[in-house]
Amino acid sequence: MSEAQDRAWSELSGFYRFDVPRDAASTSVHPDAVFEPTQEYGRTAPLIVEIGSGQGHAIVNAASTRPDQDFLAVEVYVGGLARTMLDADKADARNLRVIEANAPEVLETLLPEGSADEVWIFFSDPWHKKRHHKRRMIKDGFGATVGRALRDGGLLRLATDWEDYALQMREVMDAAPEFERAFEGEWAERYEGRVMTAFERKGIAKGREIRDLTYRRVAR
Ligand SMILES: C[S@@+](CC[C@H](N)C(=O)[O-])C[C@H]1O[C@@H](n2cnc3c(N)ncnc32)[C@H](O)[C@@H]1O
Repeated sequence: MSEAQDRAWSELSGFYRFDVPRDAASTSVHPDAVFEPTQEYGRTAPLIVEIGSGQGHAIVNAASTRPDQDFLAVEVYVGGLARTMLDADKADARNLRVIEANAPEVLETLLPEGSADEVWIFFSDPWHKKRHHKRRMIKDGFGATVGRALRDGGLLRLATDWEDYALQMREVMDAAPEFERAFEGEWAERYEGRVMTAFERKGIAKGREIRDLTYRRVAR
């Protein structure tokens, strides 16, 4: 981490970072740990969770422009979380918290069931080599994982610049009994709340098309 990020980590963690009780691995989540939104934000408001928030550009922008909603950034990259806290502090966004943890465990156990109004996953690592596809986050079974954390009617928003991952995402989510499509045609419209990040810019520069998908949690 840079000096500024190091300082952010020690000075801003007290307010922004939820200290995750761990299981065995360093980014794991203890199965008994719970992130209770009403307690963490000091109010009841719609909760938006971003998985793999990177440097935090999308979520800080959203948090600072939507004060009536609460935001949670989930990342394993601490430099990105430090940057997120720095930018949130600069923007005076107090409706944001960050979690350093393996995202599927956050969705499976840390968040109370049905507590999230939206889950965003933008430019999830593509693991483009075939032998690495099994490491992709959005694969068979992910519908149940994310569907547990979302409330009925809640939205899962996805975007990627890798065509074959976009096709895999759509196949996996179309087959998930917890979800239905919230778009017409082949792909969803670009989500207007998604700001341009370095990953999107890089994809475009390499001539890759950006594809969005939106799915709605069906009633339990
Ligand atoms: C390609 S980057 C995209 C970052 C950001 N969403 C953007 O569009 O700029 C993917 C991010 O997902 C994070 N990530 C990958 N696997 C993760 C996991 N299991 N739990 C939490 N974050 C993860 C990575 O650390 C990385 O920052």
